[in-house]
Amino acid sequence: MRPEAVDAMLPYLSDCFANPSGGHAAAQAAKAALEEAREVVAGALGADPSEVVITAGGTEADNLAIEGAARAAAAAGRGRGVVTTAFEHKGVLAACDRLDHEGFRVNRVGVGRDGIVDLEALAEALDADTVVVSVMLVNNEVGTIQPLDEVAAVVTTKAAGAVLHTDAVQAVPWLDVAAATAHGQLVSISAHKFGGPKGTGALVARDRVPLQPLLEGGGQERGMRAGTVNVAGAVAMAAALRVTAQQRDAEVARVRTLRDRLLDGILAEVPDVFTNGDPRRKVAGNCHVGIRGVEAEALLVALDRAGVYAAAGSSCSSGAAEPSHVLAAMGLSRSDALASIRLSLGFASTEADVDRALEVLPDAVRRLRAHALAV
Ligand SMILES: Cc1ncc(COP(=O)(O)O)c(C=O)c1O
Repeated sequence: MRPEAVDAMLPYLSDCFANPSGGHAAAQAAKAALEEAREVVAGALGADPSEVVITAGGTEADNLAIEGAARAAAAAGRGRGVVTTAFEHKGVLAACDRLDHEGFRVNRVGVGRDGIVDLEALAEALDADTVVVSVMLVNNEVGTIQPLDEVAAVVTTKAAGAVLHTDAVQAVPWLDVAAATAHGQLVSISAHKFGGPKGTGALVARDRVPLQPLLEGGGQERGMRAGTVNVAGAVAMAAALRVTAQQRDAEVARVRTLRDRLLDGILAEVPDVFTNGDPRRKVAGNCHVGIRGVEAEALLVALDRAGVYAAAGSSCSSGAAEPSHVLAAMGLSRSDALASIRLSLGFASTEADVDRALEVLPDAVRRLRAHALAV
């Protein structure tokens, strides 16, 4: 976490621990802090504070946006069509799957090899019955920035009654999310992606978009999300967001330089490497490479032993590594997908981190390739 976020949070875990829904002075102090945090989030996302729902993270914000808007629209008799892309985060895809089971008509449109949504396919999927469209702003594996303005224009033309949701969880450190999402109604963010605490996020619901709540009870968050609000989390999220916005331009330039050095170093030192996601249209912190002849899972273990923590899009289920749904949607072959790893950089990344990765990775690849040849 960013130190500013930790500092901001601590008083709300100790002295100022009251429930913001209460009426006494301590509760009112907690409420004031919560509302101040809401204003910061609203300002950063180009919304009115009354349009910000504090959630327990990005997944909940995605679920609430998609299920909440679709069910509200269907209940009002406005339609049952839902359109998303094949390479969204599971927080979006699972919500769409649930709607599918409830009898909504769900369409998951394809993406190109460059990691950008297929706008023609999107246009074809939209019709007057469409009530919710969900397209992420930045993909969480390959880092590609989606053309949201063009998506919004297509939605306005083909499905004027639909609301546009965007999962902006991966965008906050790198983009001005208020500007990038200006034409959408629903925007999800998650604090732990920009130096805030895990388990805290927000959904912006602009233009009074009707939402059926997922959580019902005490009517908090204007009835859209019941349950005592995580004041400490919201305050810390706001602190992290404020610093992120202040430092964004400088950080994007700094991290891009680091990332480019990392990528150039890998390409220079390791033969038979390819990159995933259009390099001109991806965020500064994303380095996603495929290393032919190497199993990503084995490489991750070797890197981990040397103190370099990387990720593969693939998840291990019942012992077998499955290729990432993102890379599969982009059309990578199974073997290329299983040879791909993601090295992410952020505000805490340093020159020394890149030096270490470049010291460790080429050597690990050489050893794994030699071993593969030997067996
Ligand atoms: C694009 C995207 N959406 C949603 C989420 C889920 O956010 P959270 O972990 O806060 O539930 C993530 C987290 O990795 C993400 O990358």
